[in-house]
Formats: sequence, structure tokens, C-alpha cells
Amino acid sequence: VEQSYVMIKPDGVQRGLEHYKDLKDKPFFPTLIDYITSGPVVCMAWEGDGVVASARKLIGSTNPLQAEPGTIRGDLAVQTGRNVVHGSDSPDNGKREIALWFKEGELCQWESVQTPWLVK
Ligand code: GTP
Ligand code: MG
Repeated sequence: VEQSYVMIKPDGVQRGLEHYKDLKDKPFFPTLIDYITSGPVVCMAWEGDGVVASARKLIGSTNPLQAEPGTIRGDLAVQTGRNVVHGSDSPDNGKREIALWFKEGELCQWESVQTPWLVK
């Protein structure tokens, strides 16, 4: 059977360590880093008016038990330390984090045909 060797390289792990640097003095920081570097992640860069707030609304509260039904964490998560998804908490951090996770030229710009029916 065909096989492929796939590996997260040191820069991938290092980026994970840097990502939550604002939280480095929190007691849960070591377990957070173990979690966030425990496997591959899917990265997205979203763009649009108010996208930081709308993404966080869709994601729901940090503690899944306080997250509304219909949010990703509310529907799919149980514990704060396993809350499925991350969203930047400010436009400045959005820019910083996208620069951390993507190299120039890796982002593609596209517009769904539905967009003009959702926002104008
Ligand atoms: P992110 O979108 O991942 O940044 O979450 P957030 O903005 O809702 O929360 P915050 O930035 O304050 O914390 C980052 C992550 O650290 C959270 O999503 C949790 O996974 C984890 N975390 C935060 N607070 C706690 C805590 O009290 N205990 C534990 N175990 N993990 C925590
Ligand atoms: Mg956060």
C-alpha cells in the first residue's frame, strides 16, 4: 500500500507556542500548549466588516457550558480546555495571528456567489 511520511515541522510547533503568548502567565498555560500542539490544526483567515465579532459570536463563549446552543462550542464542546475552535479577539490580534500562521502568498482571496445576497 502506498505510504507517505507527513510531519508537522518545528516551525509549526513553534508557531503554536507563540500563538497564546498573552496567556503565558496563566496556570493553565502548560496544558493549553500541550493541547494546541497535540495534532494538526486547520487554519483560516477570514476577512470582512466586523468579522472578529461575528466569528466570536459563531464560536460562542470560552466555556462551552456557557456557550449558547447554535454556537460551535455550545453544540460541539464540553470543556474549556477542549473547546474546538479559536477566533481572534481583536482586529490587531487578527492581523498578528494571521501573520504568525500564514506566509505571504498562502492566502487566497475568493468570494462566494452568495455573498452579495448576504451583505451589501
Ligand atoms: P481562543 O479563541 O482559543 O483564544 O479562546 P477565548 O478567546 O475564548 O479564550 P482565551 O483567549 O481567554 O483563552 C484561550 C484558550 O485557553 C481557551 O479557548 C481555552 O482553551 C483555554 N483556557 C482559557 N481559560 C481556561 C481555564 O480557566 N482553564 C483551562 N483549562 N483552559 C482555559
Ligand atoms: Mg482568545
